[in-house]
Amino acid sequence: MLTRDKNDILCRVEGSAPMGRMMRNYWLAACTSSDLVAGGSPKRVKLLGEDLVAYRSPDGTVGLIDEYCPHRGASMFLAHNEDCGLRCLYHGWVMNGEGKVVETPPEPPESKLKERVKFAAYKVYEAGGVVFAYMGEKGKEPPPPEFEFTGLADDQIIIVRSQEKANWAQCIEGVLDSAHSNYLHSNGIKPNTDIDENTVLGIKAHLDRPSNDGAPKLEVETMAYGYRYAAIRKPLHNADKNKYVRATLFVAPCYGIFPAAKGWGNMQFFIPLADGSTMFWYVIWKRDGAIDQETRDRYLDNTGLRPGKDVDDNQINIRNRTNNWMQNRDAMKRGDSFTGMTGINNEDIAIHESMGPIYDRSKEHLGASDLAVIHFRRMMIDAAERYVQTGAPGPGLAEPVDYSQLRAAEGMIPHAEAWQIIMGDGPLEKRAAE
Ligand code: FES
Ligand SMILES: [Fe+2]
Repeated sequence: MLTRDKNDILCRVEGSAPMGRMMRNYWLAACTSSDLVAGGSPKRVKLLGEDLVAYRSPDGTVGLIDEYCPHRGASMFLAHNEDCGLRCLYHGWVMNGEGKVVETPPEPPESKLKERVKFAAYKVYEAGGVVFAYMGEKGKEPPPPEFEFTGLADDQIIIVRSQEKANWAQCIEGVLDSAHSNYLHSNGIKPNTDIDENTVLGIKAHLDRPSNDGAPKLEVETMAYGYRYAAIRKPLHNADKNKYVRATLFVAPCYGIFPAAKGWGNMQFFIPLADGSTMFWYVIWKRDGAIDQETRDRYLDNTGLRPGKDVDDNQINIRNRTNNWMQNRDAMKRGDSFTGMTGINNEDIAIHESMGPIYDRSKEHLGASDLAVIHFRRMMIDAAERYVQTGAPGPGLAEPVDYSQLRAAEGMIPHAEAWQIIMGDGPLEKRAAE
């Protein structure tokens, strides 16, 4: 549990809240490349409580600026997208992505007003179909976030998103809690007796697991980028000899990398939009070539977050609190579905939102299966407090991290071995889910 004060430090990101101030020092995913058409409509983007618009100029340059016109506050979402910047509909002022007012047409020609006016404009970095934003002090941005997928072509990547009406920490704690997958996701993640210690895990279907152990033992290791943790389960075969390990990475401040099918990678982002809302991103990639349509469709169906069907253009999910996340109780009664819900990610989202926008963690009761969640909270609360008190950089910012090399892994290993050997640097390297 957390005291209410510590809970606020963990969760709140708006204004001068310590966590939000610290998060400004990282690159945060703002929108997708495909959201922005050159010379087309701006896209509303919310980050750390700020209302912004992203747009792509006719020449292809991406800008990210305050949504509200610095003249008298009209929304720049409605603006014209011109060569020189966004032209406000109200009085024709033009603002550019450098944070400069370029034109103030109603002012007398000698006016210096435009030189004095300031507004928020943030640096962006575009790669892997994602537009990342840096909202910290100018000139102090860390190296660009070069994850494994950001070096791949668009046709190797699947991206889905959904707004969650829940705080970012509440949402990311799901990735740091392997035990829930045996319960909440029991519709989609099944024990599979065909997988044994000689099978490279994930080759058949990454959702299958060689275990039905619903009480994993968790171990945590702090790393330069954040931490990694292992969920260690009894396998279905040879439990006397082996243990089944799934290792997941928490990459500060709000990214998770978890095991994927062989030849694939995946990560989730939990970008704080405001104190009580989060953009859930799920990025899936294939290492060695384009994803065919059938496979793409299968992944989209598994998530239950198909753009245009389950989630609209503003990433609003059709399943929400007002319709009880479309839970089908008849299917539960029949025993066809444990949750009565469609899509693994919708199961997560429903649970996160069901806790209310900011759950009061002074009321909870943590157990052994919550070890990685506890580690996350401690790490991020300490980091935010230290940052505010001393300016110390948060996890991953003190020393260079090669994000492109970060991989999650799963594997079956002898009891005597440390779980870290599945991470790719030990003798059983071939068994890591590369
Ligand atoms: S409010 Fe935008 S130009 Fe006046
Ligand atoms: Fe989950």
